[in-house]
Amino acid sequence: MATPESPYGTSAPVVAGGKPVRVHHLAAAKKDGTKLVMLTAYDAVTAQILDAAGTDLLLVGDSIGNVMLGHDSTLPVELDEMVVATRSVARATKRALVVADLPFGTYEAGPEQALASAVRLMKAGANAVKLEGGSPRAASVRVLTQAGIPVVGHLGFTPQSVNMLGGFRVQGRGEAADVLLADAQALAEAGAIALVLEMVPEPLAARVTESLTIPTIGIGAGARCDGQVLVWTDMAGMTDWSPRFAHQFGQIGEALRQAAVDYGAAVREESFPSEKHWFSS
Ligand code: KIV
Repeated sequence: MATPESPYGTSAPVVAGGKPVRVHHLAAAKKDGTKLVMLTAYDAVTAQILDAAGTDLLLVGDSIGNVMLGHDSTLPVELDEMVVATRSVARATKRALVVADLPFGTYEAGPEQALASAVRLMKAGANAVKLEGGSPRAASVRVLTQAGIPVVGHLGFTPQSVNMLGGFRVQGRGEAADVLLADAQALAEAGAIALVLEMVPEPLAARVTESLTIPTIGIGAGARCDGQVLVWTDMAGMTDWSPRFAHQFGQIGEALRQAAVDYGAAVREESFPSEKHWFSS
C-alpha cells in the first residue's frame, strides 16, 4: 500500500526518489538483488498510471496485437502501429525505462533492417527495443548496440514464432535447454541489456539467470529470474481469462463494466448530468 513516505508502498524500486530508470540501473539491480518490475503499456493513459505506480520498465509489447487490436496473434502488428503506441507511452512516462518491441517482419532480414526499424522506435521515444530469437539475432543486437540502441532479448516461447513452435508451449525442455542457454549467452555477449524468458521451466530460467551478468525478466519462468513482466490487462484482471502464469492483482474489467452500467442508468434515469455538471451562462 502507498504511504506518505513512498508512493510505491513498502517495496523499494530500483531507483529511489522518482529518478528515471536508465540502462545502467538494470545491471546494478541484478548485482544488488533488487527485483525488476516490468509491465506492458500501449497508450498514454495506462502508461501514466503504471509509471506512477513505480513500474521500472514499460514494454510497448507487440502483444498490442492480441490485447488491444483484436488480432489472435502478434504477427499482424505493423511497425507504424508500434510507433504510434510507443509515442503515446513515452509521452506519458516520467520514470520507467520504455522498451518497444520490434514487430514481426521488421528485423529478421538482418542488422540493416533491424537498425532501420529500431531507429523509428527510438525516434518515437523508446529507450530500448526488444527482439525475439537467439544466436541468429546476435549480429543485429551487436549492430544496434554499437549504434547506441539498447536491446532486450526474448527467448523461450517467442510469440512471433508461434507457427514454428506449434502453439503456446513451454520451451527449453530436455536437450533444448542447452541451446537456450547458449542463445542467452550469445545475446548477452552481443550487448543485450536484459533478457525476457517466456514460458521456460523454472530450473532452466534459474540456470540462465545465474550464468548471465545481465538481468533476466521472467514471464511464466519462475521466481528466480531477476525480474518479472506481465501483460497489464492480465495483471489488472481486465478480462475474465488470463494465462496460468499470470495473477490478477485487481478486477479492473469488472470495475469498468460496472462504471459503464452505472453511467447508463444515470443517463436514462436523468440523474446525470445534474446542475453541478452544466454551465448556467
Ligand atoms: O509483447 C509482449 O507483451 C511481450 C511480453 C509477453 C514479454 O513480449
